[in-house]
Amino acid sequence: MQKHFINTENWSKSELEDLLTTANTLKNHPFHHSFKNKSFALLFFNPSMRTRTSFELGISQLGGTAIILQPGKDAWGIEFEPGVVMNGDAEEHIQEVAAVLSTYVDAIAVRAFPQFKNWQEDRQDKVINAFVKYASVPIINMETVVHPCQELALMMTIKKHLGVVQNKKFLLTWTYHPKPLNTAVANSALSIASKFGMDVTLLCPNKNYLLDKKYLDIAQQNCQVEGSSFTISHDIDEAYKDADFVYAKSWGALRFYGDPQSEFKQRRKHQHFMVDQQKMALTNQAKFSHCLPLRRNIKATDAVMDSDYCVAIEEAENRLHTQKAMMLSLFGEKI
Ligand code: CP
Repeated sequence: MQKHFINTENWSKSELEDLLTTANTLKNHPFHHSFKNKSFALLFFNPSMRTRTSFELGISQLGGTAIILQPGKDAWGIEFEPGVVMNGDAEEHIQEVAAVLSTYVDAIAVRAFPQFKNWQEDRQDKVINAFVKYASVPIINMETVVHPCQELALMMTIKKHLGVVQNKKFLLTWTYHPKPLNTAVANSALSIASKFGMDVTLLCPNKNYLLDKKYLDIAQQNCQVEGSSFTISHDIDEAYKDADFVYAKSWGALRFYGDPQSEFKQRRKHQHFMVDQQKMALTNQAKFSHCLPLRRNIKATDAVMDSDYCVAIEEAENRLHTQKAMMLSLFGEKI
């Protein structure tokens, strides 16, 4: 069966451990010829800085070719619904796009954020699943309703600083942001921290900000398997207390999904969730990180971002090493 990197659920802990080991080797020895005759299509339906740069650079460092496409901008818009009369904006159907790209390239990577209208629709992740269905090459998720590439970089960073991560306290804290953002990184953070046996706490203002049950269940089940704990908290001081690693992310309340005005009336009450030095002082000398981009003095203060315990830049760097390791693994390549 074709191997993809759509999420980390379908990869075992030991496979992920192997990726992180390879990533650490690549950090010290970045250049190889493994992808000398390989090419990758990177499809961005949404903007990116880190993902685009790290994928394009990483493929180049392994001797391959990356082709960037932005459907609807520099490439034709794509229709994803099966069996429709295509009299809208899209010029071609995913069936042809996936089939044609499969004849040109060895893998297709896709960034396709939710539409922010109907969560029951968006949670099905139809865009990337359509690529899986209609392409005949490996598909890589560059962020949809999960962000598995960020997961790898996050865990590489955590392990570097905490060493043994089993039963260390991982705090995922919701933060305010002026817009209702994607839940992908938050879903992913719960998934990877629990998969590696950390004691996971999810801190959010109230039950309206809970993540989709699917990801709460993944965290709960992973913790059961690993003998660790999964806690949901709405108490800032209690959640930060004794944390070993603090990870911040903002997301829109799923209860008000598709209704940003109502959601904003709720969200604006919780600006005090910003990560600051007082909160970090409650921790067990925790490291702090964020996937970036981050609005300073909205999600975290300047003092936190400029502190020696902030490892967000290192996590961003680790995107490069971990993605290279993941792509090598998809093709069974060793270095
Ligand atoms: N963290 C992350 O994916 O960054 P970009 O949106 O810049 O790619």
